[in-house]
Amino acid sequence: MSNVTTKVFPTKQEAVSLVADQIETLIRDRAAAGKKAILGLATGSTPVALYQELIRRHKEKGLSFKNVVSFNLDEYYGLPGTHDQSYRYFMNQQLFDHVDINKADTHVPNGTVAEDKVDAECVAYEAAIKAAGGIDIQILGIGRTGHIGFNEPPAGPATRTRKVHLDELTRKDNSVFFGDISKVPHYAITMGVGTILDAHRVVLLAWGEAKADIIRRTLKDTPSDSCPASWLQQHKDCLFVLDQAAAAKI
Ligand code: PGA
Repeated sequence: MSNVTTKVFPTKQEAVSLVADQIETLIRDRAAAGKKAILGLATGSTPVALYQELIRRHKEKGLSFKNVVSFNLDEYYGLPGTHDQSYRYFMNQQLFDHVDINKADTHVPNGTVAEDKVDAECVAYEAAIKAAGGIDIQILGIGRTGHIGFNEPPAGPATRTRKVHLDELTRKDNSVFFGDISKVPHYAITMGVGTILDAHRVVLLAWGEAKADIIRRTLKDTPSDSCPASWLQQHKDCLFVLDQAAAAKI
């Protein structure tokens, strides 16, 4: 039995407004209490509209990100943060450079760590999340393979931050950003499904008909490693925010 709450909106803009409200409330409540807000952030085309709305609230409503600490889900293995397809670069461009967040409080897995240091890097990433008190709100997109973060099938709730091999469908989907599939890395470092399930609240976003089949499988199929996102059914506080096209098959 799924615990997931699903909200469907006519447009992406209305959908991101609800999610931005939740993030704004968290940030302001924590700031009023003199505390940090811990956000889990995602990359890809899906969260861009959300980041634009957060930037708008920063510029027009004075929403400050000074008390925000962020942890991104994943990073391509082999790409430095200066590479225009790295997720560190993406986050700087799409959000961090436009708000008053302290860059030292923004965490993205290090994609250039040496092979023999990968495990230590992953353990340190998990430890940093724990030391911050855990993630208050984790934002997710979803891949057509059923991946969350870069947890390609098979991946289950026991998985933690680690180096993973990317599915060919994911490399093909992401090749639009690289211009050519041969340029898409084969490996990434990602939080595990278990890391994501540890977040206090999870909000998954999906737009467009290309996501309708995987959203149906994620919500309706019995949780299994063949659709890593389906494990979200077992999370106690998980919200799916969808546009009508992504929700068409549920
Ligand atoms: P997208 O990717 O937002 O570019 O569709 C989502 C994902 O792979 O998690």
